[in-house]
Amino acid sequence: MTDLSTNIGRLRLDNPVLTASGTFGYAEEFADFYDLNRLGGVVTKTVTLEPRPGNKPPRICETPAGMINSIGLPNAGVEQFIAQKWPFLQQLKTAVIVNVAGKTPDDFVRAVEKLEVLQGIAAYELNYSCPNVKEGGLSFSSNARIAEQVTALVRAVTQRPLITKLTPNVTSISEIGRACEGAGADAVSAINTLVGMAIDIHTRKPRIASITGGLSGPAIRPVALAKVYELVKALTIPVIGIGGIMTAEDALEFILAGAAAVQIGTANFMNPVAALQVVEGLQRHCEEENILRLMELRGAVQVG
Ligand code: FUM
Repeated sequence: MTDLSTNIGRLRLDNPVLTASGTFGYAEEFADFYDLNRLGGVVTKTVTLEPRPGNKPPRICETPAGMINSIGLPNAGVEQFIAQKWPFLQQLKTAVIVNVAGKTPDDFVRAVEKLEVLQGIAAYELNYSCPNVKEGGLSFSSNARIAEQVTALVRAVTQRPLITKLTPNVTSISEIGRACEGAGADAVSAINTLVGMAIDIHTRKPRIASITGGLSGPAIRPVALAKVYELVKALTIPVIGIGGIMTAEDALEFILAGAAAVQIGTANFMNPVAALQVVEGLQRHCEEENILRLMELRGAVQVG
């Protein structure tokens, strides 16, 4: 049997396939479809210190080979997460990574401090990159100094692995990644969505209420792959690849570019078993190619 395991800093995963935040709820929503423990891990929907109602509808629309969302990080707040969502999540044997966002640096710190009482959180993913909120959001990952400051503040209140989720909507994603690494991040995940827009030509209105939103899906995969490749070359900490991964073949591209793991996002909306199929496809590929350890392929892209 091929070894699919990987390491994200101190965090060992049985396989490199994670579900992306905001596309898989709090995992319980998908539990009827398959045994979630077959995944490398799940990343929860974003949790914030206080409850958030999210943005006005319409909040999503389809676009060529993708979709635009502007959901606005709706969630019931960290206390309700602990009371209502954690009891299911804590039973999982697979890694549970809690995605956290905040309007201010202090919000990140206070939310993580509250989560620290829970036993069994594998890591935190700090969402520095939501393009759809007025306060916080992109400001944390479009300025290296702020990304560094928030990472350092959270680093000071937890020993758990920290993954910082980066936006592609910047001039230099590697500059932001290096700032996170310098402040104590254990890994970065990239990319979050690209800012996009669509207009209904009959109503002449933007197709989502907040005018612009985040573009995801296969349309962004080549951009994501290039950003991941850039980050892998610039950082010493692991990079988790995200962006339009629908199949095992797509995931293999990211691993060859140097990703230590991948997240499956938009695919979950089209096919609730997509992430499991990626795990199975990676296993099959390794068997067919006589690869004993999947991570032998990490960074094995042949350039030059
Ligand atoms: O609007 C949203 O909730 C999107 C979040 C994100 O892209 O991180």
